[in-house]
Parts: sequence; C-alpha cells; structure tokens
Amino acid sequence: MPCFGRLPLPDDHAFANGAAFPEPANLLAACARARGLRAGLLLSAVWRQFRAGASLGDGVWLSLRARLINLSAGAVRIGDRAVLRGTLRVEPGGALSIGRDVYVGDDVILSAGEGIDIGEGTLIAHGVQVFDNDTHPLDATERLRHFRMIRGLETGRIRIATAPVRIGARAWIGLNCLIMKGVTIGDDTVVAAGSVVTRDLPAGVVAVGNPARPISEAIARAPG
Ligand SMILES: CC(C)(COP(=O)(O)OP(=O)(O)OC[C@H]1O[C@@H](n2cnc3c(N)ncnc32)[C@H](O)[C@@H]1OP(=O)(O)O)[C@@H](O)C(=O)NCCC(=O)NCCS
Repeated sequence: MPCFGRLPLPDDHAFANGAAFPEPANLLAACARARGLRAGLLLSAVWRQFRAGASLGDGVWLSLRARLINLSAGAVRIGDRAVLRGTLRVEPGGALSIGRDVYVGDDVILSAGEGIDIGEGTLIAHGVQVFDNDTHPLDATERLRHFRMIRGLETGRIRIATAPVRIGARAWIGLNCLIMKGVTIGDDTVVAAGSVVTRDLPAGVVAVGNPARPISEAIARAPG
C-alpha cells in the first residue's frame, strides 16, 4: 500500500487543497489556526457565512474555499462532523440536507433548486457536481429571456425544471461525477470517477460510465 507521507497540517489529507478547520473562537484563533492574517480573515468569513445560512451540527470542519449561498431561509442542515470544501448553493424554495460524517471535496458544487439529501457517512470526491435542477429553461426563447433577466434587462418569472436528488448513506461518489436531477443513489453504492448519473442506482452496487450503470456489488461489511 502506498503512503501519502507527512501531512502539512493535522487536519489536512491527500488530495485536499489545504486544511479544513473547526470553528475558531475569534479572529485571533482563526489566524493562529490558519497560520496568517489573510487566511485567518478568510476562515472567519467562511464560518460566518455557514453560521448565518445553515443549521450546523457539532464538529463540522470547513476549508478556506467552502462557500454557502443560501437563498432559501432555514433550509440548510449540516450534520455532525461533516467536512465541507466545496460550493453549496440553495435557490429560493430549495433545501439541502447533509448527514453526519459526510465529506464534500474541493470544487464540488451542490445546487439545490428543490431538494438535495445526502445520507450519513457518504464521501463526495473533488469535482463532483450535483444539480437537482436544469439551471436554465429548455425552451430557447425562455432561455434567452432568462439570460436577459440575469443581466437585469428584463423582470418576471422563469420556470426551471427541478427534481430532488437523494444520495444514500455510506455512498462514495468518485471524482468529477455528475449527478443529475431526480436521481436516487442507494446506500453503500460506489459511483466510479467521471460517471454521469442520470437514472436511479440501487443500494450496494459499483456503477460506472455515462450513463452510470451497475457493474458489480459494492463491499459493505457490518461494523465491528
Ligand atoms: C469505482 C472504482 C473504485 C472501481 O475500482 P476497481 O474495483 O479496482 O475496478 P476496476 O479498475 O477493476 O474496473 C472494473 C471495470 O469498471 C471499469 N471502470 C472502472 N472505473 C471506471 C470509470 N471511472 N469509468 C468507466 N469505467 C470504469 C473498468 O474499465 C472495468 O471494466 P472491465 O471489467 O470491462 O474491464 C474506481 O474505478 C474508481 O472510480 N475510484 C474512484 C477514485 C476517486 O474518485 N478518488 C477520489 C478521491 S475520494
């Protein structure tokens, strides 16, 4: 087995872009933990954003690049000991629930227009994107109208397709996977790196490819 060697900070690990940090008591503590004023200010700002926008369990760690954009008051729940390094965005009316002991890697995007639910103990590797919505309308005229609204040239309402995403407990979503709207992924399931999940995956399988299909059973041992 290869060993990844000595880690630069106690709460850093292989393939993570820097450490993730517990909530600092104050700015001084933030600067001490993050080793510098700039990083300390950023760490404080990141934690403020999550405190303001989410209901947080105990022992959560956030990286300096974690982001929470929550436009849906009271709709983000983060479980105990979650490690969050990516961008979490919740649109008005959307909800996001992350179970305890969940890992969300660098450059992950979770985009909740309706609802994303991630079960306890699940690992979401770096670069994964989970979208429970299409972001733009399918209809070309509406899409142009949407762009004009984004630019502030028009006002009004736009209909964007959404369908909730559920990822079970103890799943592992490999790096750079895309999880599309309306999908349910079962407990203990492994999705191979770079897969595109467009349909439900059952519990306890290894799934690969685009579209992701089960190829074998996953290994799930009873604890102890
Ligand atoms: C899913 C995974 C664990 C499977 O590993 P494994 O059990 O050793 O599987 P194998 O390499 O024997 O591959 C089994 C089959 O799946 C295919 N396969 C494996 N990974 C694949 C992928 N990402 N996309 C498409 N096919 C894949 C292989 O080609 C092989 O097909 P074959 O039987 O027709 O030859 C591994 O491929 C993977 O994706 N790991 C994720 C690593 C990661 O994301 N790390 C990020 C840090 S958290």
